[in-house]
Amino acid sequence: MLTKNETDTGLMSSFVMKTYFPTVIFQIEVANADALNTKLLEAIYAERDRDQKGIARSNYEELGGWHSQPDLHKKKEYTELVNHIRVATERMSSELSYSANHAMKIGTMWSIINPPGSSNRAHVHPGCMWSGVYYIQAPKGAGDIEFIEPRTAHLMNQPKYRPNAKRPKECWTKVRFTPKPDRMLLFPSWLYHGVDPNMSKEAGRAGHRIIISFNLNQQKI
Ligand SMILES: [Fe+2]
Repeated sequence: MLTKNETDTGLMSSFVMKTYFPTVIFQIEVANADALNTKLLEAIYAERDRDQKGIARSNYEELGGWHSQPDLHKKKEYTELVNHIRVATERMSSELSYSANHAMKIGTMWSIINPPGSSNRAHVHPGCMWSGVYYIQAPKGAGDIEFIEPRTAHLMNQPKYRPNAKRPKECWTKVRFTPKPDRMLLFPSWLYHGVDPNMSKEAGRAGHRIIISFNLNQQKI
């Protein structure tokens, strides 16, 4: 193996690793989220009381989660969160040089309550450009979200890596985020992701993993 010192012996005048076609995920922390989260919790449990059955989407009913109707962005209880999403997506659009004549508009927004033992199978969000998740409650062990390498050709013949070496991000085939109340993630809708089982030991509502997720499309302003 050519070490860094050997590359520096004059045989190469340059050795540069360039990264193209990256998969981008934005991580945002909402400031002073405690009051917001308290209000959202109240609204979501009220929603569940009105609609106990919910609807099945990313989660099979057998996996144990409750999934609200996908119209929460139209309800006044969620206006503050919608505003946080607008601010975050405006920044994202700016970072990515998206058209200033277009804005990311929420098409659907829903909540998921995952009690201990429940999970969400891997899925994509068809029909939209970007998707996101906001974490409202996440007890210890509540279950990470895992994003999976979208370029499946890279999974066909994987290199051997040095044992105990930290693999560079360019070589990862999955990445996990631990949920944290106040954190929002924005990710491409085509990026496969799933949620580990909630292994919380907390009793009652304190053991629930609670999120709001949403889908976005660029629309002319
Ligand atoms: Fe999802």
